[in-house]
Amino acid sequence: MDKNNLNRRQLLAAASAGTLAAVSRSIPAYGNISNKGRKLAILGGEPVRKNKSWPGWPYWDQSIIDSVVKTTKSRIWCRIQSKSGTVPTFEKKFAQMMGTKFCVATGSGTQALHTCVEALGIGAGDEVITSPYTDPGTIASILVARALPVLADLDRQSYQLDPDDVEKRITENTKAIMPVHMMGQPCDMGRIMEIAKKHNLKVIEDACQAHLAEYQGSKLGTIGDLGCFSFQSSKTIACGEGGGIIGNDEQLMDKCYTVHNHGTSRAGRTEVAGPKYRMNEFEAAVLLGQLDGVQERFSRRNQNAAYLTSKLKDIPGIVSQKLYEGTASGSFYIYAMTYRKEYFNGADRSKFLKAISAEGVSLSPYIRQGLHKEPWIEHILNSKVYKKMFSKKRLTRYRDQIPCPNCDKVCQEMAMIWASGPLLGKKEDMDGIANAILKVYENRDKLHLI
Ligand SMILES: Cc1ncc(COP(=O)(O)O)c(C=O)c1O
Repeated sequence: MDKNNLNRRQLLAAASAGTLAAVSRSIPAYGNISNKGRKLAILGGEPVRKNKSWPGWPYWDQSIIDSVVKTTKSRIWCRIQSKSGTVPTFEKKFAQMMGTKFCVATGSGTQALHTCVEALGIGAGDEVITSPYTDPGTIASILVARALPVLADLDRQSYQLDPDDVEKRITENTKAIMPVHMMGQPCDMGRIMEIAKKHNLKVIEDACQAHLAEYQGSKLGTIGDLGCFSFQSSKTIACGEGGGIIGNDEQLMDKCYTVHNHGTSRAGRTEVAGPKYRMNEFEAAVLLGQLDGVQERFSRRNQNAAYLTSKLKDIPGIVSQKLYEGTASGSFYIYAMTYRKEYFNGADRSKFLKAISAEGVSLSPYIRQGLHKEPWIEHILNSKVYKKMFSKKRLTRYRDQIPCPNCDKVCQEMAMIWASGPLLGKKEDMDGIANAILKVYENRDKLHLI
C-alpha cells in the first residue's frame, strides 16, 4: 500500500487495520505551516493561530446605521402605519430574493413557525413530525398550538431527519412534517416531499438556519407548503430578533398574515384566534440595510467552506457534514463535523476541543442533548391538556418511541464552528482551522495529558 497516496476510504481501512500511525505521517500541513514535532499549545507550545480574532458577527456597516436613522426620523415605527414602511418593503425584497411570491415578516423564527402551524389549521389532537436535533423554538411552535411534536431520529452523518424514521412515526393524527435544515444545509427533501405526498401531509420547512441555500434548483424554504426563517443575531441575515415566512399560495399566506396580526386580516376584520407577532420597523430597517451584501457574503462562506472541507477530508477521525445529492449551496450558519475519538487514541471530545481552542480555533459541541431528552416531554405527558387531547394508549406509545439513538450519537460526536463571521475570513484563516485540527491529530498520543 502506498501510504503517500491514500484516498479517504483507504485511510479508514488502514485505520481499522491498525496502521493509522504510519498513515498519519503522510498528511501535509496546509499553507506554509509545518506541524511536525510542534508541541500542543495547551501543553506549552506555540498556538497555530496567534491572532484569534475572526470577522465579527453580527455584521454592520454605515448602510445599516443610515437605515435605522431614517426609520427613526420617519416616525413610522410600526408596520401597520404605512404600506411602504420598512417591514412591507423588506417582505417584498426577501420574497424576491428567495424566488417566492409572498413573505410575512414576524418577530422571530419561532413566531414564524407557530404562525404556519396555526394557519394550516393544526392544533389540539394533531401531530407534527420534526427533529430532536434543533433549537427549542421548533417544537415550541407545535406545543403552543397544543399539537404533539413527534420526534424522528437522525441520519448520523448529515445530522438531518432520517426520512425512513419519519415515515415510521406517521399516525392517523399526523398532519404535517417540519423538516429542519440543520447547519443551513438541506435535509433529504426529495424523500421527505415524497413521503408527505404519499400520506397527504403538509410540509413546513424550518429553514431558520438556511438562508439562500439551494437544493435541486430550489432555495430552501420554497420546497414545502411554507418556509420559515430566523433573523436572530447569530444568523447569516440578522436583526437581533426577527423571522419570516415565505410561500406561493396567496390564500395561505394571507392566513399567515391574519394569524400573526392577532387574528385580524389585511381588510381589518378580526377573524381567527391569533397572537401578535408583527415584526417592527426597526428590525426591518436593520435587515434592509444589509440586503445588498448578503449574496456576496453567502458566496464567500460557500467558497471558504468548500476549501476547508477539501483540507479536512484527509484527517482521519474528522468527517465534515454529509450533504445530500442535489445540494448546490448551504447558508453555512454552522460548519459542522463529526469527531471520531477512536482515531484520536480514544481521547474524549472535551480534550480534543480544549486542545483545539488553545491552538486559537474555537470549536463547539453545539447541542448537548437532543430535545427528546429534555423535561418538556414529562411536562406534556403529565399535563391535563395533553391527557384530554390524546388517548392513554397514544401517550404510552409516544413515551415508548422517545429514544433517538442516532441523535444521541450526533450530540456526542459533534464539533462545529459558528460560521456566520468566521467563514467570511481569508484562506489563511481556513488553513489555520485545518492546521489546528491536524496538529491535534498528530499529537493525539498527548491528549491524555490534558
Ligand atoms: C433550526 C432553528 N429553528 C428555529 C429557531 C428559532 O428561531 P428564533 O430564535 O428566531 O425564534 C432557530 C433559532 O436558532 C433555529 O436554529
